[in-house]
Amino acid sequence: MGKYIIKGGNKLNGEVFVSGAKNAVLPILASTVLNSGICILKNVPMLLDTFVAIDILKDLGCDVSYGENTIVVNSKNMNKTNVKEDLVKKMRSSIIFLGGIISRFKEASICYPGGCNLGKRPIDFHLSAFEKLGIKIEDNQNIIKASVDTIKENVINLPFASVGATQNIILASVFVEGKVVIKNCAKEPEIIDMAKFLRKMGANIYGEGTHTITIKGVKKLNDLVEYTIMPDRIEAGTFLCMSAITKGNVKINGINPQYLKSLLDILIEMGCNIYTNKDNIKIKVDKTLKPVDFLETKPYPYFPTDLQPQLMALLATVDGISIIKENIFEARNKHIPELNKMGCNIVEDNNMFIINGVDNLTGEKVYSKDLRGGASLITAGLFAKGKTTVEGACYINRGYELLDKKLNILGADIKYIKD
Ligand code: UD1
Repeated sequence: MGKYIIKGGNKLNGEVFVSGAKNAVLPILASTVLNSGICILKNVPMLLDTFVAIDILKDLGCDVSYGENTIVVNSKNMNKTNVKEDLVKKMRSSIIFLGGIISRFKEASICYPGGCNLGKRPIDFHLSAFEKLGIKIEDNQNIIKASVDTIKENVINLPFASVGATQNIILASVFVEGKVVIKNCAKEPEIIDMAKFLRKMGANIYGEGTHTITIKGVKKLNDLVEYTIMPDRIEAGTFLCMSAITKGNVKINGINPQYLKSLLDILIEMGCNIYTNKDNIKIKVDKTLKPVDFLETKPYPYFPTDLQPQLMALLATVDGISIIKENIFEARNKHIPELNKMGCNIVEDNNMFIINGVDNLTGEKVYSKDLRGGASLITAGLFAKGKTTVEGACYINRGYELLDKKLNILGADIKYIKD
């Protein structure tokens, strides 16, 4: 599992570059099955989840090679349409492979990804949308078998702006006869990135970033695509919370501040000095911060669930009461008892978190149970007195590239121990 050991108390200071976005590269890797040709992806974060996606592609028969932050996928000889169960269990978002495979091969099968540490995470929106596109879905002993003669045009009204369902429907629709319109689709920047990639591949898709995406079917895609993955806004947001908790002075490079507006607004309200440029954000904290009366997680452009735990760690050290409501995942709360072990005072009431800020935290042995929760424990560890050991580093490494190295360059004292 590995662990991180942090000696807290150092202010973060200096500059850091963010890596490519995990939440963009995974759906884009799933999209590479579509063109039966070569995709060259640059600025790829080499994360544990990236390697799971590579393993899925290889298992499907694609040739995959990679070097420093670049992956080349050749899907010409892909010869399998079922995604291996043990790989799906390793990474829930592998459900997005379903859309690409059914699109190209007219058949696909995958096991139910099931729940995870964040909660139930159903896929009913994905499957009912597929059925509206004429795809037959059979559910046999936990295996979803999808088959279709011709993908049919339709208008899909999503009951909720689901990121995964939007991505799966887009992929399933690339070769539709006619057009597919997705209403109430997700507007996340990573959806925009995927749409840009698909357009480079030759797909006819527009409307990304708005409430409605339209995909007009094409007959064939380009054999060769080169694409650079967008920067990771969640990694940048994590560095902002880590900088703020240590009262640091940090410039975060390679990030469009617009993508983090919801977090920046909160940090400014709390009293952080924030300076933005086209592709960087500076944060400087030189005074006592204020709590936040109430904030809730919602789909983009509102405050992201993926930053809830890290901001919670920060608020837990700010005098006064802050309240966060988690609306996306019913079990994104595993970090709370661990933060409380370190001295935080956080009470949970039905996905409403009441955070009573404290002056000091103490280093402890704590357990990361999921990716962003793990990041929140490291955030707290950077502030805490003494040594914090965050067990379960494998969860954190699913989403943060070179985290210890980047933090040490900023003046932290953090060690990664692989065991
Ligand atoms: C979600 C987050 C995304 C985040 C990712 C990893 C949102 C809207 N989505 O994406 O920002 O990066 O987790 O942490 O913030 N749902 C259903 N049925 C479905 C699909 C979803 O009921 O078929 C529900 C989910 O239980 C959840 C909500 O819709 O409450 C959003 O889910 P969705 O956006 O699909 O989740 P992910 O794609 O995993």
